[in-house]
Amino acid sequence: MTEIHTPRLLLRRWDEDDLPALADINADPDVMRWTGDGSVLDLEQTAEDIERWEEEWDEEGFGLFAVELLGSGELAGVTGLSVPTYLPEVLPAVEISWRLGRQFWGQGYASEAAQASLEFALQDRGLDRVIAITRVGDTASHNVISKLGMVPEKVTTDPRYGHQLAVHSIDLTEYEG
Ligand SMILES: CC(C)(COP(=O)(O)OP(=O)(O)OC[C@H]1O[C@@H](n2cnc3c(N)ncnc32)[C@H](O)[C@@H]1OP(=O)(O)O)[C@@H](O)C(=O)NCCC(=O)NCCS
Repeated sequence: MTEIHTPRLLLRRWDEDDLPALADINADPDVMRWTGDGSVLDLEQTAEDIERWEEEWDEEGFGLFAVELLGSGELAGVTGLSVPTYLPEVLPAVEISWRLGRQFWGQGYASEAAQASLEFALQDRGLDRVIAITRVGDTASHNVISKLGMVPEKVTTDPRYGHQLAVHSIDLTEYEG
């Protein structure tokens, strides 16, 4: 069972009880604005995501964590690692990404979870490089990226939707946490 404790968060794998809370997060247009084509996701799509993430955990040994608040046990959102198959030009690569419910923004939780995910990538998985792929204009994500010490690589076009995507990377062999 893969679990990581940070000062305020538990990062863990998914179970079916997470579905309603994640579906609420995914139903918020402000949360989904910079993800995919910007559409919200319904309950069924959210269930498919959880299933896909769990498959990735089983197949790759890494994946997207459920991010739970240690104090209350609430599901705050999603952070972790995945293979960005939607952007073939960057492959092979492992991507870090994040999504929190709106009430959990502005408290440093995304950065805390992302930092723990990078440490997991390096120490548990032995990865030496992780990238982040974000929409140009997604300033909240860019803020997290710069706090993690990721550096810009290039701007490219999302082959699915035509959006401009910024690719950043971090060399984990130099990572100091
Ligand atoms: C992107 C996203 C995860 C960023 O969340 P966030 O809460 O803004 O990010 P952080 O965890 O870094 O916290 C930011 C702020 O919390 C504040 N904060 C409050 N208490 C804090 C604490 N104890 N420790 C650290 N920061 C704290 C800080 O001021 C920090 O802002 P600063 O870096 O300008 O000083 C969030 O906006 C989100 O979920 N967006 C929707 C999903 C999305 O767009 N995902 C990306 C698609 S690829």
